[in-house]
Amino acid sequence: MFKSDEGAANASSEVASSVQDSVGELPLPPDFVWGAATAAYQIEGGVHQDGKGPSIWDVFSHLEPSHTSGQHGDVACDHYNRVSEDVALLASYGVDVYRFSISWSRVIPLGGRTDAINEKGIGFYNDLIDRLLSYNIKPVATLYHWDLPLELEKRYGGMLNTAEFQADFSRYACLCFSRFGDRVKQWITFNEPYIISIYGHHSGVLAPGHHSSVEPFRVGHSIIVSHAAVVEEYVTGFQKCQQGSISIVMNGDYYEPYDASSEADRAAAQRRMEFYIGWFGDPIYLGADYPASMRNQIGSRLPHFTKSERELLSRTASSNSFYGMNHYTSQYARARTASPAQDDCFGNVDELHINSDGVAIGPLSGVSWLRVTHHQFRKLLCWLWTRYRRPIYITENGCPCPGENTMTVEEAVDDQFRIRYFGLYLDAISRAIYEDGVNISGYYAWSLMDNFEWSAGYGIQFGITHVDFSTFVRTPKKSAYYLRESLKRRKEMG
Ligand code: NOJ
Repeated sequence: MFKSDEGAANASSEVASSVQDSVGELPLPPDFVWGAATAAYQIEGGVHQDGKGPSIWDVFSHLEPSHTSGQHGDVACDHYNRVSEDVALLASYGVDVYRFSISWSRVIPLGGRTDAINEKGIGFYNDLIDRLLSYNIKPVATLYHWDLPLELEKRYGGMLNTAEFQADFSRYACLCFSRFGDRVKQWITFNEPYIISIYGHHSGVLAPGHHSSVEPFRVGHSIIVSHAAVVEEYVTGFQKCQQGSISIVMNGDYYEPYDASSEADRAAAQRRMEFYIGWFGDPIYLGADYPASMRNQIGSRLPHFTKSERELLSRTASSNSFYGMNHYTSQYARARTASPAQDDCFGNVDELHINSDGVAIGPLSGVSWLRVTHHQFRKLLCWLWTRYRRPIYITENGCPCPGENTMTVEEAVDDQFRIRYFGLYLDAISRAIYEDGVNISGYYAWSLMDNFEWSAGYGIQFGITHVDFSTFVRTPKKSAYYLRESLKRRKEMG
């Protein structure tokens, strides 16, 4: 989707077409939860329905066809008009939990703290939540999955204005807590702050499409501070009576050194993870400053936390009671020999899929940036547990099958590659729990259904349900039933 295709050409010579390791179906704890995840812009559609306001994605996807492969989320999966069918489908997969995102501009069309609330938008999410609960599926809500109300971008530059953004995000979050928090018991503030900052403000492949080497760090700062402020609002104003939890969802690849015998590459791998994960994880979970490796390199581009921000972070760090992690793949990190460029945003590291011996990190999936790297996934779980000590939820994991984008529905539903991918990643979770002592509480497949994959439009399929985008017919893939049965068996063994 939005990641670069670098390395894909080199990789093609050694691409393995199937995953080699065997899937052992190892145990998981009986109280381990599993489910599927989605995001509003990727599935809802209903762009002009019932008073929804525009978001930056509505504009971005229409502005320039190359941004999104000529496609947009105006209708997407038409989930807005098919909630009852989609929740019934989820229930048929036997899930315990469902992670969805709330479209900010559906509930507050202009987004700001004094702007009008759209009761029809609130009603849509009330209905979704009630339907989930009627099947005994626990709703888990993300407040921000990339669709900033357009008006806030126009008024003050969106996330580039920390104080204004924080105030508006707090009001929106509190509205959601007060209207939905009697039934939603797990809250996620932001989805993938790294991607928002770097892909939205440096490479410009995601909305709002900026190209800057300074903005990512201002945006990242706004996210961290706004997140902490909302955690504090939740803890002081809602948690006691609602008895829920709150945190953030980060993504992150695991980085192996390109040349394991090279001290420089080993340091590069660690530095890359500190840039990717520690950037947000250290302030949020440890109440600490940005990692020293970032500060050394980014210099004056990296903001300083004010005294009151530092106090806020240290007051709220322990209230982030879980670590939400989206994880798909891993890479090799190679130290650059030249000193960092003035505009470097990555830690002066090259990212590769092939190491110094020419060995690929794992078999290629249906998209060039995603290789099957379950061994590295296990290492990442250990890295996160060691650094942050929070129960981990895998809030997204999945892959497109090789060639899936040209398959008929009959071919697509027989998704053996995805089944093996899930199996290997679930085995890695089991090993991390039972052999490495990592606390892992749940797992979400990305995604409930094929959907609008951002810059790839509808050209990449991550769903456990096939969607025909001309008829909107949903057809379960075999992986959906594999997950249902396998999770049942694994939990019985655990
Ligand atoms: C992570 C994002 O949260 C989600 O929106 C996206 O579709 C998946 N990665 C797959 O690329």
